[in-house]
Amino acid sequence: MRHLLSTTELSREAAIELLDISEDMAAVADRENKKLPALRGKTVVNLFFEDSTRTRISFEAAAKRLSADVINFSAKGSSVSKGESLKDTAQTLSAMGADAVVIRHGASGAPAVLAASGWIDAGIINAGDGTHEHPTQALLDAFTMRRRIHGAGSRGKGLDGVSVTIVGDIVHSRVARSNVWLLKTLGAHVRLVAPATLLPVAVDSWPVTIDYDLDHALAESTPDVIMMLRIQQERMNDAFFPNPREYANVWGLSTARWAKLPATSLVMHPGPMNRGLEISSAAADSPQSTVLEQVANGVSVRMATLYTVLTSTREVSA
Ligand code: NCD
Repeated sequence: MRHLLSTTELSREAAIELLDISEDMAAVADRENKKLPALRGKTVVNLFFEDSTRTRISFEAAAKRLSADVINFSAKGSSVSKGESLKDTAQTLSAMGADAVVIRHGASGAPAVLAASGWIDAGIINAGDGTHEHPTQALLDAFTMRRRIHGAGSRGKGLDGVSVTIVGDIVHSRVARSNVWLLKTLGAHVRLVAPATLLPVAVDSWPVTIDYDLDHALAESTPDVIMMLRIQQERMNDAFFPNPREYANVWGLSTARWAKLPATSLVMHPGPMNRGLEISSAAADSPQSTVLEQVANGVSVRMATLYTVLTSTREVSA
């Protein structure tokens, strides 16, 4: 795997292999010495044009556990036009000898531009681009589901027949997009629940079932996994729902809705959470919530991703 730009490019075999390597990496996390020498001498650049806490430190921890050198480049606030600044930055990083660039950018497609540009000969890992994709988040979500459903240490398995209901701000969510494609590849059934204003126009062509009402969706079938998404106020320049109270009442995983779920239904959220809006504290802090497991598993999945990208054979550029 030369780059990781989108979950659409992962075959079932490639996805399962990444999850299996993540299991190997998780085993390292349980040891007293968490460091592996696998990427010694390699340089990983975290190039973040958008705010992030958990994703950036997760990639940083992952790279360090594999003994790579890490450079954190927070490019937010640059006044240069986007295409130009990306090119200049990429050439600078190339001159510094970056072997992998983990990029988060507000523009959908920025990582793909970088990978195709020829400005830099590094492995490119998409850490979230606009509303497009966030592949390592979907991989860590799938890893978390597989561990809870099939047990830690299970290998070779997908998520066949697992029902996953994703609720909330789908239109702005790169997490939802990456999850829809990966979950389909792994054999899960996906249902999206959101007000019509928070569903993308193209959703009709996605491999999912749609519901506009959370109570209706939960009454119709009990999901194995319910994944709540953050309301992304920073991407909203319009009124997408009447007001926060109404949203919480109709689409939030309130304490009452959560209490009706069986204890076997997993409650997931990629973070950061708006407690009291899309998820109640009772649901977020319950034993069936995987919120903190997702964070811990993120390091293992990003170790597996960096390892796979940095050990894949490169074309030698002329
Ligand atoms: C997600 C993101 O940035 O897309 N968060 C994350 O990576 N932990 C989801 C979000 O911001 O709501």
